[in-house]
Amino acid sequence: MKTIDLTGKTAVVSGGGGEIGFAMCEGLAEAGANVIALDINTERVPQDHEKISTLPLDLSDTAGIRSAVKDISEIDILVHAAGVNIAAPVAEFEEQAWDAVFDVNLKSAFFLTKALLPRFQSGRNGKIVFVSSISAKLGYPGLHAYTASKGGLDALIRNLSTELAADGICVNGIAPGTTKTGMTKGLWDDKEKCRAHEATIPMGRMADCSDHIGPLLFLCSEMSDYVTGQILCSDGGLTSVQADFINLELRGGNE
Ligand SMILES: NC(=O)c1ccc[n+]([C@@H]2O[C@H](COP(=O)([O-])OP(=O)(O)OC[C@H]3O[C@@H](n4cnc5c(N)ncnc54)[C@H](O)[C@@H]3O)[C@@H](O)[C@H]2O)c1
Repeated sequence: MKTIDLTGKTAVVSGGGGEIGFAMCEGLAEAGANVIALDINTERVPQDHEKISTLPLDLSDTAGIRSAVKDISEIDILVHAAGVNIAAPVAEFEEQAWDAVFDVNLKSAFFLTKALLPRFQSGRNGKIVFVSSISAKLGYPGLHAYTASKGGLDALIRNLSTELAADGICVNGIAPGTTKTGMTKGLWDDKEKCRAHEATIPMGRMADCSDHIGPLLFLCSEMSDYVTGQILCSDGGLTSVQADFINLELRGGNE
């Protein structure tokens, strides 16, 4: 059985200062890669980490992206995990909020890819992985810009994959299910809400950040060299089940 070894590879992880993003940086580093964690807030990343360095950057500033990456010489892996979520009913949803979400979740994915494309080493298999969401497939009241931006990200993954295959670069996505991070604190912090939500997940629990590392490493390794344009749901079965599914055991039996 082959194991995943990314020794000698360089990975850039946008949102690498976030909860899922930093877990991904650690996973890539443990597999041997040298990792650059790019984020507007890099406080989470230890300054003395042997294999993870930081690149502070506001991804909503497209011109800033170009100049910030100019010192990166060669890369093998790009992960776009930066994301923001602003929720409000339609009537209260402001244009500024819409733009803020789209700028980071979708627009920067494209312009970061564009800026880093010339740095992908020629003749070696490049890997691009965008962190999408099950929200690209499932709606939720208030998440208008978030769901639309992630739906756009899924389309962008498919589209980039068609063009970049000629450069030997695979472009794929990971769609995490509800994951215990600050972004979802309102859900898992409330015992009753959390239990009700987990009862709708076939695997019966929300994800931890570590649940997404295996799928990421697969998509960043030679094991997936013939896989491109795909979105891998890391969601405990949430998007595979009918809406009326209830895990009765979690609900405490046939109440
Ligand atoms: N938590 C979940 O349940 C969940 C589910 C599905 C998908 N996701 C996606 O996973 C990714 C990580 O989410 P998370 O839960 O770890 O949240 P998080 O807030 O911990 O991580 C997001 C990171 O993006 C960074 N970021 C935001 N705006 C930025 C900007 N302008 N420039 C640079 N960096 C910026 C933040 O500083 C943060 O470090 C996001 O793309 C999110 O949409 C999360």
